[in-house]
Amino acid sequence: MEVIICPNARRVGEIGAAKVARIAQAVGSSVVIGVATGSSPLDAYAALADMVEKGEIDLSDASVFALDEYVGMPYDNPESYHAVINRTVTVPLGLDPARVHVPDGASAELSTAGQRYEDAIKQAGGVDVQILGVGSNGHIGFNEPTSSLSSRTRIKTLSERTRQDNKRFFSSIDEVPRHCLTQGLGTIMDARNVVLMATGPGKAEAVAAIIEGPVRAMWPGSILQLHQHATIVIDEDAAADLTMTDYYKTTYANLPDWQRLDV
Ligand code: GLP
Repeated sequence: MEVIICPNARRVGEIGAAKVARIAQAVGSSVVIGVATGSSPLDAYAALADMVEKGEIDLSDASVFALDEYVGMPYDNPESYHAVINRTVTVPLGLDPARVHVPDGASAELSTAGQRYEDAIKQAGGVDVQILGVGSNGHIGFNEPTSSLSSRTRIKTLSERTRQDNKRFFSSIDEVPRHCLTQGLGTIMDARNVVLMATGPGKAEAVAAIIEGPVRAMWPGSILQLHQHATIVIDEDAAADLTMTDYYKTTYANLPDWQRLDV
């Protein structure tokens, strides 16, 4: 795991975006990017949009796959992940909506929606770089604690903690959906690169568990310890519970020039 500790949230977005951009440049304009909802990657999306506008990266043929969607929520609801991805990714990055995929949580054929999503990712050639946030309970996508570490896209029940965390987007807890359709941990692990961003003190416990704790289903993000190309970009607050902080900082400060992400 590569752990990059940044002085503030804005820098997390810039460095996260720089990492994604480097992979996109290496792959070319038909890069396949996995995207996450939530507040954590928003600065990175803004930084990527800036790079597209300046012509520093070409995403004209890029395909995008979102991690998850609520079950049964109409896509014209502004809190559906279809709407969120459109607002925060598709439009600002100037992507072709036909190549933007979000799990079909409102499908009339829900039982096969997971497999159809897996097939679509495979057909696109797999994900080159997966952008991730992390829930306060260590979930990635909506893979709640005790999710199978090799799970594929399927329906999950949201934990009470996640529903409370996401309550801020709804007028009451009763409106927060109870079910979602999410890429599995095995699906996420198939991405060729992953870039996880986390900021703020509310993420410190989860960040420490997934980077330095044992790999276990109670902290689903800890599966990333088994990924060959996982980069974790966090601010000082999210890094507060780590024990190897000096090592991560020294490593990053002494990276060879070709590996540097400074922007
Ligand atoms: C949601 C999403 C996750 C996201 C997490 C953290 O539950 N399903 O993909 O990483 O929330 O959100 P935030 O970045 O807003 O803290």
